[in-house]
Amino acid sequence: TAELNQALLPLDWLLGTWESDEPGEGCFASIKPFHYTETLNFSHVGQPVINFMFNAFHADTRKPLHRECGFIRMQPGANRVAFIIAQNSGLVEIEEGELTAQQLNLQSQALARVSFAREPHVQKISRVIQLRPDGRLEQTVSMATDNQPLMQHLHITYRRSS
Ligand code: HEM
Repeated sequence: TAELNQALLPLDWLLGTWESDEPGEGCFASIKPFHYTETLNFSHVGQPVINFMFNAFHADTRKPLHRECGFIRMQPGANRVAFIIAQNSGLVEIEEGELTAQQLNLQSQALARVSFAREPHVQKISRVIQLRPDGRLEQTVSMATDNQPLMQHLHITYRRSS
């Protein structure tokens, strides 16, 4: 296994596999609240880039629901972090933001989607990923769509599984 690229040291706390410890909570003004489980994986091959996969499942049926994967890069010499993301829904996005201690505060900078993506379309995403003092990882995602202002869609915590 490759040695971690020095540029990624500030993000070393993300690396590995994380499993939701209790079902995450999904909500939005226009949908029925739901519960989900999710596995996250963050890996690297020695480049100054983290590879990630997020796989979410229906909490009761365990059916695969939402999937995202992509890359994480850091601006050299700065606390600026970029997520380059592809989602199974046909959405692609760039999210950028600051790393403060072990918290990432990300905002979408660019969004694009396949021509036949389901409506309503997402117009904005903001996301907080943080390592909590108790060793659990926490993710909160808010979004705005054509019809709704920015509001929370997801909240979930994970424990490290490897
Ligand atoms: C609904 C976007 C992640 C589960 C939606 C809707 C949008 C959306 C635009 C439709 C809202 C409406 O009809 O007004 C996103 C984005 C995500 C994300 C941008 C990531 C950044 C997830 C994850 C799950 C999930 C991780 C976990 C299973 C659902 C469910 C619905 C929904 C169950 C309602 C039923 C449906 O429309 O399929 N999401 N979502 N989403 N999302 Fe997400």
